[in-house]
Amino acid sequence: MTTPGSRETATAGTVTARIVHALHQQPEVSGADLARMLGMSRAAVWKHIEQLRALGYDIEARQARGYRLAAVPDRLLPGEIQRRLRATRFGAEIAYRAEIASTNEEAARLARADAPEGTLVLAESQTAGRGRLGRHWVSPPHANLYASFVLRPSIPPGDAPQISLAAAVAVARALVAVGAEDVAIKWPNDCLLGGRKVAGILTEMDAEVDRVRAVVLGIGVNLNMPIEAFPEELRDTATSLLHALGSRVDRVGFAARLCDELEEVYDRFLDQGFEAIAPEWEARSCLTGRAVTVECSGRRLRGIVRGLDPDGRLVLDGPQGEERIVAGDVSVVDGYAAARGTRTTDDGAR
Ligand code: BTN
Repeated sequence: MTTPGSRETATAGTVTARIVHALHQQPEVSGADLARMLGMSRAAVWKHIEQLRALGYDIEARQARGYRLAAVPDRLLPGEIQRRLRATRFGAEIAYRAEIASTNEEAARLARADAPEGTLVLAESQTAGRGRLGRHWVSPPHANLYASFVLRPSIPPGDAPQISLAAAVAVARALVAVGAEDVAIKWPNDCLLGGRKVAGILTEMDAEVDRVRAVVLGIGVNLNMPIEAFPEELRDTATSLLHALGSRVDRVGFAARLCDELEEVYDRFLDQGFEAIAPEWEARSCLTGRAVTVECSGRRLRGIVRGLDPDGRLVLDGPQGEERIVAGDVSVVDGYAAARGTRTTDDGAR
């Protein structure tokens, strides 16, 4: 941790993460035991306890007995996430901000400063959350997940869009793990629940012609946001887990699970290529066999979706024959009922 309060950077092994872990493990821990464990003075331990309190932890100090963790705030605190991680790289370093313009912007800054692969930037709120195609991502405080990962894949720059596709599979798995059974993926990487967008992914890249320096994988998931908190124009196309499931989600548990799933999917992608992920992506796709229009590079294409090609491009049967699309905005032609039962018209749930 660098400074208390709104700004925290932690690795799984930092002092505060270790104190948090110890406080979770035992009903009470003495200052002397913590000092011994951490190799520091009791006064130094006390300073760290104060920093944790500034983050919202309710830590009681009892004369001659020690510290007791009375309550943990509903915040995406690195120590809380890291103690639940199975992943070893994704989330091993977490930069946590109470408010930030965009976690993608901050992750890009950290990437330029040599942050290692898997570094995660989390924010409670974003003032300029970015969506695909220059759109805005609604990012109110303490409700959702705004996460950006620094990646350093040794792949040709042209393959980077496949990372977003693979990431959608990991997001879908994390959603299923918290009880959202019927998650669909809409190409390229939106996750839908009941036909409405619950999560979006924005991947940005720093590359030379033939070498990727860094990829920033930005993920926004609407978790505990009431439907009334969405701008009115999004209420028919967007949703949150709270709205879809009727109960609040443990955001910390979700963040940890997402790190675990992303690391597994990403490693498989690097080892075996997108082909190894494609069947799971296809099984969740809500577009296959549907009539769509696609806006791409100033063109509007119409056709029936056939699926993905081995490189993750969308294959469309159009009036002029087969089209393979690398990037674009898909709208399902009017009259479409999504494979999972609910009507959707486009990906407007931002
Ligand atoms: C989309 O338009 O579907 C992509 C939305 C991506 C939003 C996330 S929130 C965390 C990260 N930071 C940003 O500014 N954008 C991404």
